[in-house]
Amino acid sequence: MPVHRHPASASKVGEPITRIPVDAGVIERLRSSYRLVRRQDLEFARVFYAKLFEAAPGVRAMFPQDLELQSRKLTMALDTIVANLENPEANSHLLAQMGKRHAGYGARPEHYHLVIETMVAAMRAVLGAQADERVLDEWRMALRLIGKQMIDAGR
Ligand code: HEM
Repeated sequence: MPVHRHPASASKVGEPITRIPVDAGVIERLRSSYRLVRRQDLEFARVFYAKLFEAAPGVRAMFPQDLELQSRKLTMALDTIVANLENPEANSHLLAQMGKRHAGYGARPEHYHLVIETMVAAMRAVLGAQADERVLDEWRMALRLIGKQMIDAGR
């Protein structure tokens, strides 16, 4: 039986993230669910920010007033991350840059849990009847690894 491992997970403790073997099944599920989310990208972003600001009104002031450009940037970043799932080195560069910028926006490590849970909840909302809890869990894992790389780069 093949070993199933998350695409961004380390196979051995201490192994560099860039040498991780990728799991084709997880990647395929992340990619096909993202394709469905992407068809409703503006709705995904709208739900995400609405839920985020409802849960943590204090973070609203960190974001620009007009969220349209912000929403497009979020979609573009997720597009690139999903396109590069087999190529973690390309993603690690992007995530390091994003992490450094986020430190400048005032994003703290303790904000990431809420942001990640809110992104997963927004995916669940736009997927509706097509939402699959296993795939949403895989997204949660992927976003945690994304967040970890951003936090590490922003320190
Ligand atoms: C998985 C984690 C996250 C992802 C994928 C993500 C993605 C993005 C992207 C793509 C942008 C566009 C600007 C850029 O790339 O620098 C952005 C902006 C922003 N993010 Fe995040 N983010 C994440 C976590 C967070 C967290 C934890 C916070 C803390 C509240 C946060 C706060 C912000 C703010 C305030 C901006 C807007 C900055 C501005 O335009 O002035 N983000 N985010």
